[in-house]
Amino acid sequence: MADYPLLPRLVVLISGNGSNLQAILDACAEGVIPAQVVAVVSSKRGALGLERARRANIAANVHPISRGQDRREYDTELADLVASYQPDWVVLAGWMRILSMAFLERFPQRVQNLHPALPGMFPGTHAIQRAFEAYRRVHIEHTGASYLVPDEGVDSGPVLAQEDVPLYSDDTLESLETRLHNVEHRLMVTTLKTLCLQHETRI
Ligand code: GRF
Repeated sequence: MADYPLLPRLVVLISGNGSNLQAILDACAEGVIPAQVVAVVSSKRGALGLERARRANIAANVHPISRGQDRREYDTELADLVASYQPDWVVLAGWMRILSMAFLERFPQRVQNLHPALPGMFPGTHAIQRAFEAYRRVHIEHTGASYLVPDEGVDSGPVLAQEDVPLYSDDTLESLETRLHNVEHRLMVTTLKTLCLQHETRI
């Protein structure tokens, strides 16, 4: 893998499909985000995102939790693995585990988490489906996507960026998912681009 000493280094953590990872890889390759993805870590074996990393010639690591393993011990191992790539930022892009301080304190203010809902709304899994059901029950007008600096809570922490996503009466869960993922990709790429440009002016 080529290493560009002047470009900020991103480590991306995933658990599945990796469409957000792909958006980052494409934006880095096109120079939209002035950064390089130096490694991908998946919490799950067989995640499609691992294949996306390999296709881009990027180190693809699998680090699942072992049966009965202590959470802090797992997070410390994960932090050691991530730290070995010397990241400027660690991006949680579809990473499906809550990280404890054993991980977060190793990368203060340098971890970012994408969540497919607005801050404080529908934390945890199935956020898009829960927003879709809430729309049908009580007619909320929009859901959204947020990009956060995670704390130890579930999809909580200081907000870097957020964007509303409207809900329409003819929406299906699939159409809402497609619209929301498109917003997520854009929000994450735009925010990373801004952060990386600020990083460039500091060095
Ligand atoms: C995204 O909606 C992300 O916000 C959520 O899980 C989904 C992962 O999608 N945490 P992908 O793996 O990036 O395609």
